[in-house]
Amino acid sequence: MSIGLNQREGDVIVVAQSGPLAGEVVVPGAKNSVLKLMAAALLADGRYTLTNVPVIEDVVIMADLLRAVGLEITMSPAPAGETGQHLSIYNSGAITPVAPFELADRIRASVNLVGPLLGRFGTIDIALPGGDDFGGRPIDMHLRGLEAMGAEFETSSEGIVGRCARLVGAEVVFDFPSVGATENVLMAAVVADGVTTIRNAAREPEIADLCNMLRKMGCRIDGIGTATLTITGVAPSSLQPVTHEVVTDRVQSATYIAAVGMCGGTIRVARANAQHMGMMLTRFTDMGMIFDIDDEGITATAPDRLISVDVSTLPYPGVATDYKPLVVAMLSMAHGVGIVTENLYPGRFRYVDELRALGANIEIDGHHAVVRGVEHLTGATVVAPDIRAGAALVVAGLAASGITEIGDVFHIDRGYDDIVGRLSALGASISRVRPES
Ligand code: EPU
Repeated sequence: MSIGLNQREGDVIVVAQSGPLAGEVVVPGAKNSVLKLMAAALLADGRYTLTNVPVIEDVVIMADLLRAVGLEITMSPAPAGETGQHLSIYNSGAITPVAPFELADRIRASVNLVGPLLGRFGTIDIALPGGDDFGGRPIDMHLRGLEAMGAEFETSSEGIVGRCARLVGAEVVFDFPSVGATENVLMAAVVADGVTTIRNAAREPEIADLCNMLRKMGCRIDGIGTATLTITGVAPSSLQPVTHEVVTDRVQSATYIAAVGMCGGTIRVARANAQHMGMMLTRFTDMGMIFDIDDEGITATAPDRLISVDVSTLPYPGVATDYKPLVVAMLSMAHGVGIVTENLYPGRFRYVDELRALGANIEIDGHHAVVRGVEHLTGATVVAPDIRAGAALVVAGLAASGITEIGDVFHIDRGYDDIVGRLSALGASISRVRPES
């Protein structure tokens, strides 16, 4: 049963100039963690509970994909006092390792089925993963890592078919700390025969969250949070299902900080984990933001006007590429000129035309954006090109004079849990409008 998001593809988010913002927003769990935690439930039979699960479309799609291979998944609202929803996942052991094309094609995280299914069942048949279009998003490192452990793949324009006897522990060295490749090799290695060492592993907090859940299940993993993960494989039959709380979403947290930065005011971003956002908070501080940080969240205060800084995206602990559209939106109204360099996805500047429609002065030169801050943005009709860019347009629209209408909000729904309700609660003038049918 899905609680459903009650959305339609034609919905539009309408925002009017807002601010100063005030009050508290409670940030739920991270999309880029929960989707992988759901895939981890393929590894051992039994009933799992995930808590602090964001109410987002990608969770619905991932649940449908996992149901199609044999898991039973139910979603229920979280009890009072908690955020998000609960997911109950039952793995009866009756799994068919064939992922339907039409579901796998819709989200990037579908690739996360490859490691656990190959590791446990020795076979996988899956479409090439979908997700946001930032240009080419190859999975060569995933496949090479699993090949080093004994898997064989046939790839075509349609998808991947993989086979193996029991995988064998290996030394896997990544050219680049890929999030997805690290997760896939990790989830295969926990049930492989022997020791796997992953060098140049990605260190994102969401990967540590996955490692922590796997460890609770009985997996043997050392080096959590570092660039070297050492995994000693165990028999799947020795693993236990668990209850696990999803780590807070650092990109949703940054979104509300960006909103107050652009609209002015002081807000409390409850549950935001400052330790997971170190470099981003440093750049925000350089831009003039003031933070009061404690164990339960971050209180963020905006300056009279943001100051321009240069920002480069990098793998964690660097400034994540997922923050970048927010940063470009903030710089578009800051004092001075900021250069934003994208080092992960060369194609991730597609939202710049939309910000220009609001009056932003941005030039693209290769993988750099030169953002000359203007004093005012003006409302316009724009379209969300992907999840994070859509959120950045919402935030920019709140700071623009007049009305901004953001279309294609289904992109935002993929990763944001009730952004409209949360920003409204902070005093923003924002609504979701459903066209007459
Ligand atoms: N890459 C390769 N070969 C590979 C794997 C990656 O060349 O085998 C390249 C990619 O093309 C890209 C770079 O390495 O240029 C980074 O890719 P990575 O594998 O680290 O990213 P991902 O696992 O595909 C996840 C998030 C993205 C986030 C990136 C980077 C999920 C479902 N997606 O993608 O999140 O941008 O890590 O942090 O976890 C989003 O949430 O909006 C989003 C796009």
